Amino acid sequence: MSSPQPRPILCVVGARPNFMKIAPIMRAFREEGLPAWLLHTGQHYDEDMNTSFFRDLGIPEPDINLGVGSGTHAQQTADIMRKVEPVLDEQHPAAVLVVGDVNSTIACALVASKKGIPVIHVEAGLRSRDRTMPEEINRVLTDQISDLLFTTERSAADNLVREGIDIERVHFVGNVMIDTLHYNLSRAQPIGDTLAEYGIDPRIADDPAGFALVTLHRPSNVDDPDILEGIVGCLGQISCELPLIFPIHPRTRARLEDFGLMERMASNRIMCTPPMGYLQLLGVMKESRVVLTDSGGIQEETTALGIPCVTLRENTERPITVTEGGNVLVGHDPRRIMAAVGEAISRRRGEPRRPEYWDGKASQRIATILRDWLPS
Ligand code: UD1
Repeated sequence: MSSPQPRPILCVVGARPNFMKIAPIMRAFREEGLPAWLLHTGQHYDEDMNTSFFRDLGIPEPDINLGVGSGTHAQQTADIMRKVEPVLDEQHPAAVLVVGDVNSTIACALVASKKGIPVIHVEAGLRSRDRTMPEEINRVLTDQISDLLFTTERSAADNLVREGIDIERVHFVGNVMIDTLHYNLSRAQPIGDTLAEYGIDPRIADDPAGFALVTLHRPSNVDDPDILEGIVGCLGQISCELPLIFPIHPRTRARLEDFGLMERMASNRIMCTPPMGYLQLLGVMKESRVVLTDSGGIQEETTALGIPCVTLRENTERPITVTEGGNVLVGHDPRRIMAAVGEAISRRRGEPRRPEYWDGKASQRIATILRDWLPS
């Protein structure tokens, strides 16, 4: 008699940074013969924030889409919880796998854990120690209720042990986001094509002075008019030195418009575009002289690419990008931003870095561990 097929692992995605993490995991599961379903909560839904990533990264069509959309934190988290519960009741997955730190992560982990379904957290143990960040709350709580925790850097295990988590459940596997970077580097969209698509002067790519890439979306930077005005002022000054390419997140665009700051960016040296797809952004990032960002993933990607990164935050949950990469933390103080950008411009571009296990094989390690861990 043939042994029964194991029940699938339910893999959860919801928001943009989840897509780069789930793509290599789904691929590794397929190669390892591990059955998996993909559940999309619908936290992000636009072509720019969602659909283009599925296309670029070859992520299979979700088996289930909860279609929750935007809302306050409580509404969004509660909607996901309400809608995922009947799915878990019907499907009885072997485990629920969540990635990262977005609202979809904690919402699905919480429902699964209360139903006694094992929770697997990929990118566990990262801590900014800043509880004003919604993501920090999501990280701490998700880790507390996870049965199996996969980490990207060694410091994460220390954080988990400090919070009372059994080290036996923690596995250092490396960084799945960097799996995606390695897999797609040669497929990145040539920068010339991207510039043409957005009507940007193509000479920017050949200028020996180079250009800077800017991404901003954290509420702490964009929701306060004075802070955002200070940052916009910096962008104006930096653009006198280097042209900027600024793909604008929908939250940021809305705030810039609300605060009447969009006009301040009307310069032929600040190229504003809609949010870019993965292969487009990668093509721009890998050619940039310096990146200004408040994203978590971009701190890691610039480390792997050897590009100086100026992070507009006071802390990072990814300390390896500072100790091993070219990342500096500057908060939102204009003087610190300007000093760090000046320093980064004067620095030569570094060599690509490969922190331990950032080798493109993290997802394979996860699949191998799960094959032995899941009940047959
Ligand atoms: C979420 C994550 C954040 C992640 C970011 C990447 C949480 C708590 N935050 O923040 O960790 O870095 O995604 O983008 O989960 N919107 C659209 N189209 C979309 C999605 C959103 O226009 O497809 C607009 C809506 O106006 C929405 C706003 O963007 O209200 C913010 O979206 P939301 O998912 O609430 O949070 P993000 O700021 O994107």
